[in-house]
Amino acid sequence: MPTLTEKKTTRSGRPAPELIFGDLWEYDPAPETADPKLKARYDLFINGAFVAPKSGKYFDSINPANEQKLAEIALANKDDVDAAYAAAQRAFDTTWGKMPGRERAKYLYRIARLLQDRAREFAVAETLDGGKPIKESRDFDVPMAAAHFFYHAGWADKLEYVAPGHKVAPLGVVGQVIPWNFPLLMLAWKIAPALAMGNCVVLKPAETTSVTCLKLAEILQDAGLPPGVVNFVTGFGETGAAVTGHPTPAKIAFTGSTEVGKIIMRSLAGTDKKMTMELGGKAANIVFDDAPLDQAVEGIVNGIFFNQGHVCCAGSRLLVHEPVADKVLAKLKNRLKVLRVGDPMDKNTDLGAINSREQLKRITELVASGVKEGAELYQPPCKLPTKGFYFRPTLFSGVSMSHRIAREEIFGPVLSILTFRTVEEAVEKANNTAYGLSAGVWTDKGSRILKMSTELKAGVVWANTYNKFDPTSPFGGYKESGFGREGGRQGLLDYCQLT
Ligand code: NAI
Ligand code: MG
Repeated sequence: MPTLTEKKTTRSGRPAPELIFGDLWEYDPAPETADPKLKARYDLFINGAFVAPKSGKYFDSINPANEQKLAEIALANKDDVDAAYAAAQRAFDTTWGKMPGRERAKYLYRIARLLQDRAREFAVAETLDGGKPIKESRDFDVPMAAAHFFYHAGWADKLEYVAPGHKVAPLGVVGQVIPWNFPLLMLAWKIAPALAMGNCVVLKPAETTSVTCLKLAEILQDAGLPPGVVNFVTGFGETGAAVTGHPTPAKIAFTGSTEVGKIIMRSLAGTDKKMTMELGGKAANIVFDDAPLDQAVEGIVNGIFFNQGHVCCAGSRLLVHEPVADKVLAKLKNRLKVLRVGDPMDKNTDLGAINSREQLKRITELVASGVKEGAELYQPPCKLPTKGFYFRPTLFSGVSMSHRIAREEIFGPVLSILTFRTVEEAVEKANNTAYGLSAGVWTDKGSRILKMSTELKAGVVWANTYNKFDPTSPFGGYKESGFGREGGRQGLLDYCQLT
């Protein structure tokens, strides 16, 4: 329990930690101490081995919480990507594509278990490289990644049930590019279903968060996964374009910005390659006057401040029923005052570091546009660490649909609050966006939940909760949020051919 205190030393007699919100709340510092077992330099992972990049070049991955260099990462060029695809094709033709599903399952189970064995180490590495609070990487990212391997291991010997009445076959080699917001989890979402179905993979992680991907390569080696089944090439957008533009893959799976998704779609137009795209979002979290408001406030906070708002399905627009709008805003402000922003490696931290300087700039610019366009800003008074990339949790009230902060994906801890009077108005405002990834509905009325979930054009609609995930549940968007699904039986359908 937090203690109300003004003292300048902690209970243990050590100097007080930097107080984050005024002088009201104080916890003893609780730094995570597990060893992330990092290498100073990470090579590419091709054909089951770590190999130096042909360019001989490396780039730094930094810790966004303190801007210090964490490790060097190999920069893959086109020749490296060629080598990765050649290895994947060979593995598909000689081992993986021919292996019975029940045998593939054993590898996936092994990967899942090895990841569980090293869970704490992976959580620390994820937090150091990406900036998210350790309690999230420890309690969400890593366990969910293991769960995806377990879930898909369970499917590998039951693939005849993926599409009853049809025969399923793997596509062959697939190319995958992922972002930096859930580095290890997005990797698991991508490779677990691909492997269960018998495909081989070339994957590029995001340039700011390659470390856990390359640590997973160690697990793939320990699991005895045949060489070439999974290959990791690291680098920036140019490496990504080499992965998505290569002639070998039968399918490209991308998660990232709508802008880059469109570039990839244009480049693949006219080819027979399959695609799945998981792009941006501008979700509405809709609170009716009969909702349990304290619970809703927790859900709203979780919906937008989870992972510093670096979440494509973040509930970045709050639509609140007019009769309770003032009350909800007051409760939200109170809640924000006790959110703890700071060192992501402290187990008490709620909001960690913004992933990169570029992302911090993007958030800052969009927040400035909100102020300029006339919305009312609220930020709790809090000290931010002086080094590293941080942004205060931010509320905007008095937002109108035309404001940029109501339309554009901010991908940061910024909530835009709008109000509505009727169910119809709520649906119309929620759907009035280029995106359609997710939505939330808070109400006591079951019939209203059912009505809203059919009328909201969003791939996922949460009711009286937010940001809940499960490997069995398909995830994906409408409109500019992309197409295709990840997770569940539907996710597997996107990695097979049906006959
Ligand atoms: P991005 O879309 O540029 O990066 C995602 C991945 O695509 C990275 O691995 C990157 O190296 C790769 N990439 C970049 N250019 C490429 C190209 N031409 N061909 C193939 N791959 C390419 O996202 P960025 O710049 O990191 O973030 C920009 C904005 O995108 C964020 O502010 C946020 O709004 C949104 N975003 C959405 C995500 C989602 O999960 N839907 C994830 C990350 C960002
Ligand atoms: Mg990094």
